[in-house]
Amino acid sequence: METNEFIYLDNAATSFPKPPEVLTGMNEKYARYGVSPGRGSYDLAVYAAELVWQTREKLARFFNAPDPNRVIFTANATDALNLAIQGLLQPGDHVVSTQLEHNSVLRPLYHLRERDGIAYDLVPFDEHGLVSPDDIVKAFKPKTKLVVISHASNVLGTVQPIKEIGCLCAEHGIPLLLDVAQSAGHIPINMLEWQVSAIAFTGHKALMGPAGIGGLIISPDLELQTTRFGGTGVDSLNLRHTQSYPHRLEAGTLNMPGIFGLSAALDYLEQNKTKMQQQKTQLTKLLYEGLREIKGIRLLSPEPKAESVPVLTCTVKDRDASVIGEILDGDYQIAVRTGLHCAPLVHKALRTAETGAVRFSPGPFNTQAQIKLAIRAMAEIAAML
Ligand SMILES: Cc1ncc(COP(=O)(O)O)c(C=O)c1O
Repeated sequence: METNEFIYLDNAATSFPKPPEVLTGMNEKYARYGVSPGRGSYDLAVYAAELVWQTREKLARFFNAPDPNRVIFTANATDALNLAIQGLLQPGDHVVSTQLEHNSVLRPLYHLRERDGIAYDLVPFDEHGLVSPDDIVKAFKPKTKLVVISHASNVLGTVQPIKEIGCLCAEHGIPLLLDVAQSAGHIPINMLEWQVSAIAFTGHKALMGPAGIGGLIISPDLELQTTRFGGTGVDSLNLRHTQSYPHRLEAGTLNMPGIFGLSAALDYLEQNKTKMQQQKTQLTKLLYEGLREIKGIRLLSPEPKAESVPVLTCTVKDRDASVIGEILDGDYQIAVRTGLHCAPLVHKALRTAETGAVRFSPGPFNTQAQIKLAIRAMAEIAAML
């Protein structure tokens, strides 16, 4: 099969291309208002601070979080997860998490285990890629101080029953930290209704914003210790870091282009979400049906459901996934993510840690024709190997 078109199917790593409206909105705002917000009393600085505040408000609405002051800007989801995990745990605490987690959860937990002697248990997932809420409760111990879980798996595309898990955590008085890196922008997230204590998001995936901006949103009944200290533009004589939110967890100059880009992205999503959602769901279904028919392909992702995120992962005849990725790129100009997807325990559980796997993640700008080309390419590769 001959194809000259570049086909990007790595949107779970980062969405690409970005909508022109997002890039234009970001550039225009940064060109006009890109001064340090809240640090000067001149009009432009005050207006820049107002734009930052409006973005906090938009995010609070988007995730149904009660207090925009508790929307903390971070570099990405990894940064937000570190802020929450390190700000919450004390030596000797116990954490419940899952085997579906990304290294952005596993590594901070491991670090605190080494440094502070925290302990954790990682609940397994079943053949549908789901974690049982009862298993989470069974893992609770007297010293459990946190449940941290990814809303959607970046390997399988499956979505966890967070409302149920949130309810059980609330009953036991244990804060729930939700990693929405793979779900935000694909499925609605309701912090208040699901009783989530904190969510960590990233701007550059399905939210369609630029890289380098993300955030942590904290419910009013959760207090986090400051783990980074510095200038906040308020109470500067005090050597103690500002304790009120959002300054408590934000130190240094904010990422203004990132915040402007994220703000434009949230507007874009608001206007286009139905159309985008339909497209992503259709393409994922088409891809699943096509890959399922190919001899030699083992799909690790279960059949996509209405609420699944557009991620499908597979192996081909137990061959090293990087070989498949190189052929897809070199011969077909198709970009996918191969390897372990920073989620090593998922691959261990599925016995694909040695070979890795090939992950397809369609975005709203892919077409049916591109998906059909990807299916044909995979059929040719599977027949050839
Ligand atoms: C489930 C999950 N959590 C966290 C992250 C980290 O996101 P970021 O690299 O933007 O910090 C990712 C990124 O792939 C992810 O898939």
